Amino acid sequence: MSVSVGPVSDLSATSEPVAIVGGSGALGSGLALRFAAAGVPVVVGSRDQERATEAVRKLEAKLGAAGSADAGALTAADNAGAVAAAEVVVLCVPFRNHSETFTSLRGAFRPGQLVVDATVPLAAAVSGKATRTIGVWQGSAAQQADEMLPEGVRVVAALHTVSAKTLGTLGQALDEDVLVCGDDRADKARVAALLQRIDGLRAVDAGPLEQARIVESLTAMLIGMNVRHRAHAGIRITGLPSDLWPEHTNHEDQR
Ligand SMILES: NC(=O)c1ccc[n+]([C@@H]2O[C@H](COP(=O)([O-])OP(=O)(O)OC[C@H]3O[C@@H](n4cnc5c(N)ncnc54)[C@H](OP(=O)(O)O)[C@@H]3O)[C@@H](O)[C@H]2O)c1
Repeated sequence: MSVSVGPVSDLSATSEPVAIVGGSGALGSGLALRFAAAGVPVVVGSRDQERATEAVRKLEAKLGAAGSADAGALTAADNAGAVAAAEVVVLCVPFRNHSETFTSLRGAFRPGQLVVDATVPLAAAVSGKATRTIGVWQGSAAQQADEMLPEGVRVVAALHTVSAKTLGTLGQALDEDVLVCGDDRADKARVAALLQRIDGLRAVDAGPLEQARIVESLTAMLIGMNVRHRAHAGIRITGLPSDLWPEHTNHEDQR
């Protein structure tokens, strides 16, 4: 693994790597593309190193075609290698594989890491409709993640309403909000700083992790809208002040 590892001090400015578990998939690769285009180094994870390598090859081709000269480095790894290589780990796997992914990666996480969970518990996981969610005993997929991760690894829920298709099309402008849920404001600010490296994304603090239940269910509604309107809809919250994250520059002081 050629990625340097260290504490993330300010994700709006530094070039610390971000790891993506399930980075070969629709959301994971779209996110990797946008992060890399924004100059953020990304470790693309997969259960299979070859699939990760293939995903990186395709992403590099897209970045090359778009002429992204200052792209962040893309590195391929198996999921455990990806988790080991970054302080912030984005989880992009289907809900049906959510708990088994945490079980298999349990030993790879270390205290202090932050997991950004984008999982939506769609009923499709149990052969139901993608326009419905299923109940999760803990309240949401993100709370399930929080319960399953080792002590000291924290969870922020985000990205549920951002279309993988739009992320994966560099020529398509983003102009939408990302609702960020978590129990620690500093963690949310850290994730907001990272997400806002991507042009056109604004992160909004949507409250504690228990609010993830509501945010996750918005995706099922958006999927229905997308079918009706043949679109890739996102969401926008109105009436908010312009500076939603004043702590971005000194969030380490807030812990
Ligand atoms: N697609 C969207 O627009 C979108 C938007 C917001 C949120 N989400 C959420 O993000 C998550 C990922 O969505 P997606 O559309 O990117 O899914 P996807 O493309 O179907 O799958 C993502 C990755 O998950 C891994 N995976 C598949 N089966 C697995 C298994 N049995 N165990 C462990 N990993 C497995 C695969 O990676 P490897 O085979 O390489 O390991 C795959 O590339 C979902 O929870 C979804 O609800 C999706």
